[in-house]
Amino acid sequence: MNRPQRPARWRARLAEMNPTFGRIVLPDDAQLDQDEEYADVEFDGKLRRFRLHDYSDLYAIRGLYETLIYDRLECCSPSRVVGLLEEVLVDFGADPAALRVVDVGAGNGMAGDELDALGVERIIGVDIVPAAREAALRDRPGVYDEYLIADLANLCEADEKRLRSARLNCLVTVGALGFGDIPPAAFTKALDMVGAGGWLAFNIRDGYLHDQDSSGFAKLVQSLGQRRIIQLQALQRYRHRVSVASEPLYYVAMVARKLRDLPDEIMERWVEQPSGHEKET
Ligand SMILES: C[S@@+](CC[C@H](N)C(=O)[O-])C[C@H]1O[C@@H](n2cnc3c(N)ncnc32)[C@H](O)[C@@H]1O
Repeated sequence: MNRPQRPARWRARLAEMNPTFGRIVLPDDAQLDQDEEYADVEFDGKLRRFRLHDYSDLYAIRGLYETLIYDRLECCSPSRVVGLLEEVLVDFGADPAALRVVDVGAGNGMAGDELDALGVERIIGVDIVPAAREAALRDRPGVYDEYLIADLANLCEADEKRLRSARLNCLVTVGALGFGDIPPAAFTKALDMVGAGGWLAFNIRDGYLHDQDSSGFAKLVQSLGQRRIIQLQALQRYRHRVSVASEPLYYVAMVARKLRDLPDEIMERWVEQPSGHEKET
């Protein structure tokens, strides 16, 4: 079968950005955890340190996120996850133009850009930091139909109403689950807002799906599958990016279909009392 191929769209965007920074110096420290990684970036001859997870600081500087994460650290996840979604849609004969997508942890719009190229009907971005929205509107104008600043784990009534009225039929989240970013409660809440029959496409560090995982994601995904709330359609383990010390970081991309609405016991367990998740067997 002729599989669709997705190009690295960010390269063309970056070429238009005229970055204001110079060298990027990466620490040669293989011991750093993923949420401890940093880079030193040169501005006017001086180095300034950025933690890779200080998203607001990175998004504020045009082209820095793309240069650091996508060029230097070779991240491929937005095109990988959206590409896998596209493959499944082709297999099912489903029309991307009918998708109303919520892009959770949308950041400066890398995944939104891929979804836009796929030709979906509507994209709503959600991120917790205002700098993400500012960067997405600055660097990728026209990609998002709406972009909400919200924490899905503590969604206000107005934002929930807004998202529900969009009649979402697809949830995409790229590079945003775990590591102090989006917790299982926020992911479950987002899934609850997608209609039955809708699509789910996301990636996650491979360790988060192991039995020993303590974040809750392994149990949540297992539980959703076992109760036939979602049905897995495609799974791919791949190199998400390299670490600052050039070690490969492997993630799993998954595409699933939401078969039915989330039952009360799932909402109670994962959204209303999320601290109890480690007790589930
Ligand atoms: C690694 S970035 C990924 C951005 C983008 N999806 C990409 O692939 O380039 C993770 C994003 O998740 C956002 N985030 C973290 N916790 C969140 C939460 N509880 N609700 C919404 N967004 C959150 C962060 O602000 C950040 O922009």
